[in-house]
Amino acid sequence: MTTDINKTGISRRSLLQIAGWGSLLVTFGITIGSILRFLYPRVLFEKPSTFNIGFPDEFKTDGSTSHRVYENWKEEQSVWVVKERNRIYAIHAKCTHLGCTPNWFAEEGIFKCPCHGSQFRGNGVNFAGPAPRPLDRFKLSIGKDGMIIVDKSRVYTFKEFEKPEAYVEV
Ligand code: FES
Repeated sequence: MTTDINKTGISRRSLLQIAGWGSLLVTFGITIGSILRFLYPRVLFEKPSTFNIGFPDEFKTDGSTSHRVYENWKEEQSVWVVKERNRIYAIHAKCTHLGCTPNWFAEEGIFKCPCHGSQFRGNGVNFAGPAPRPLDRFKLSIGKDGMIIVDKSRVYTFKEFEKPEAYVEV
């Protein structure tokens, strides 16, 4: 005579019921998960590519150097703002060798890259190490309120530094 009771005392019918409920719960969980993912999609919120840096007359050279480098936007925007005698421009704080972030040494008046030793003058032009070209620059313009706007969506490489949008005349 056959029996539905196994050695643990659970009937085959009970096992099938447990398996059925288990599958139902898994399906339910997957469905709820899919609905939540649809309702709350993963979105990357990128920073806007433009930001104000202030009025042109807020940037001054201190007289002892030909370039004054402002580091206020380095951490958040990877940008140095440089004031030369009659112009302001925004340098991308990214080494043109392999992309490390150089450091500004105000007393020496140079940028040094910690990765492979490239060095750049205060205007971003390379003079030592493996970097193949000067540090890139970003587009600058003057907003309606008179403040300087940096636009990181437009990059200028060395040959374009004299384009009027690559700096602000002061
Ligand atoms: S990444 Fe700057 S020198 Fe290599």
